[in-house]
Amino acid sequence: MKIEIVYDSSTGTTAAAAEAMGKTLEHAGHECRVQSVNKANPTDVTEADLICVGSWVKGWFIVKQHPTPASLRFIRELGDLDGKKVVVFCTYKVAIGSTLRQMAAAFEQKGATVVGHFKYRGPEPDGKFGKFAKSLN
Ligand SMILES: Cc1cc2nc3c(=O)[nH]c(=O)nc-3n(C[C@H](O)[C@H](O)[C@H](O)COP(=O)(O)O)c2cc1C
Repeated sequence: MKIEIVYDSSTGTTAAAAEAMGKTLEHAGHECRVQSVNKANPTDVTEADLICVGSWVKGWFIVKQHPTPASLRFIRELGDLDGKKVVVFCTYKVAIGSTLRQMAAAFEQKGATVVGHFKYRGPEPDGKFGKFAKSLN
């Protein structure tokens, strides 16, 4: 499977999580490219078999959490995603609120099917992501 992972990261945590996800997916036999939201080209990313977009959680820590504007904007810039498989993920410290739901909704508005959602309190994807990577075909 050709997989694109695009992340928005301010201090490197989400970037590290995205890179680790990419390594896990490559170990599972997939072709994977990991890029920052500032570098990724939406037209190229739209071509992938699976698109993963990750954001750090921004908010007031216990309320009003949301994805970054850049990550939502990137999802909206993608082309037609009818039937396309997508994953949303985020890194956070305390609570994510509706962060992943907002990202999933932006994807679903473009016709995508959200097949996974992951949250990490730091740069390391957990075992749940490893199982997901092995289940992909
Ligand atoms: C301005 C600001 C707001 C934040 N708001 C939240 C929040 O509402 N909830 C939360 O759990 N973490 C919050 N965080 C923590 C970050 O989401 C977390 O440290 C994340 O892993 C940072 O990712 P990055 O290193 O890729 O930028 C906030 C951080 C900053 C700088």
